Amino acid sequence: MITSLRLVNFKNFADETLRIGPFTVIVGANASGKSNIRDAFRFLHGIGRGYTLAEILGGKYGGGGQREWEPIRGAPNEVVRFGQVQFSLEIGFELHGSELHYLIEVGYEPAGFLFLQEKLTSNAETFETFETSLSPYEGRPILLQEREAVYRETIDLLDSMRFLEPSPDRMREPSFPSANILGDSGENLPTVLEGICDNPKRKEILADWLSELTPMDVADFEFPRDPSGRVHLMLCEKNGRKVSAYSASDGTLRFLAMLAVLLGENPAGLYFFEEIDNGIHPVRLNLLMDLIERQTAKSGIQVLTTTHAPTLLTVMNDNTLENTSVVCRLEDTSDAIIRPVAELPNVRKLRQDQGLGRLHESGWMEDALFFTEDYDEAEDGS
Ligand SMILES: Nc1ncnc2c1ncn2[C@@H]1O[C@H](COP(=O)(O)OP(=O)(O)OP(=O)(O)O)[C@@H](O)[C@H]1O
Ligand SMILES: [Mg+2]
Repeated sequence: MITSLRLVNFKNFADETLRIGPFTVIVGANASGKSNIRDAFRFLHGIGRGYTLAEILGGKYGGGGQREWEPIRGAPNEVVRFGQVQFSLEIGFELHGSELHYLIEVGYEPAGFLFLQEKLTSNAETFETFETSLSPYEGRPILLQEREAVYRETIDLLDSMRFLEPSPDRMREPSFPSANILGDSGENLPTVLEGICDNPKRKEILADWLSELTPMDVADFEFPRDPSGRVHLMLCEKNGRKVSAYSASDGTLRFLAMLAVLLGENPAGLYFFEEIDNGIHPVRLNLLMDLIERQTAKSGIQVLTTTHAPTLLTVMNDNTLENTSVVCRLEDTSDAIIRPVAELPNVRKLRQDQGLGRLHESGWMEDALFFTEDYDEAEDGS
């Protein structure tokens, strides 16, 4: 399980650390840097996929010219914080009861990017690898070449991340029977759901949650084949009415994508959802939060999301509060800081009295953060 992400001179973060739990929520104003955190995770995931720096940053194309991997936003010139020449990313994670850290430092020169340093440390041992002679842009991280289990497991952890941006139109499309992994836009939904329904217990949970999350009373799912053998999705209600994925609502399909992630077989270790509340009614958001909080607590799957929705903050449970952070831009600069909401002054009492959503709407989090930062600086100076 990943427990922290430290960003140094990456995009608009000088040196900030995000606390990560089973379910992590990131809030903050527009252009504060929430999606920049996602970009940092994508960078690390690119390492896990075994790509070169050029591929991670600039995109990877398959033999037929199709894009297998999207470039990192802002690459190449705007990945390093403005005015800097190198960045580093470091994740903290737990492996077999030990706390480990993996750090990667990347330099940016006129000729391109190069890996400067890679380091894997644990409480008990330090595994360290340096490499500065890799030709710009061509190098792959060295950890990939190591054989020891701890290196492989680190790479697996980075590899096991998914970045979902469900698109209802893609979810409506039929899928091939062998395509049993949900695509980043929600592709292959019919096949993935069919896999869940092969297990009667999971199928019941799926139908129950879908009935909870939507006004439909879903009793069953059907997966008819078309003449070309592709799998279609039909939702069957208790009253006998059947609705195909083509005419299911956008919100229903978004819930199904979430359920496919949380109930499907062979899930990834970590899912990053941009704005999970997108297109979801506030009342249902309450239930969706309940579902994610329960499933992440027991399944070992980690979910990270950015949000602007006050409702989501109001209904989150105490554990999620501990893993909720606010990203806030400092005045007169594009730099931003990341702080756990639970550490803002008096937050628990105010949350009890007013609800976190209201505090968020009123701009209290940013005000409280500035107050604390100014106060800390004054203390440092004295
Ligand atoms: N290399 C860089 N150096 C400094 N700041 C940068 C750099 N690259 C991007 N930024 C800042 O990051 C901002 C974009 O941040 P991001 O896309 O993460 O916002 P967000 O919090 O996701 O906002 P929204 O809620 O609108 O999606 C830019 O407006 C810019 O100010
Ligand atoms: Mg964003």
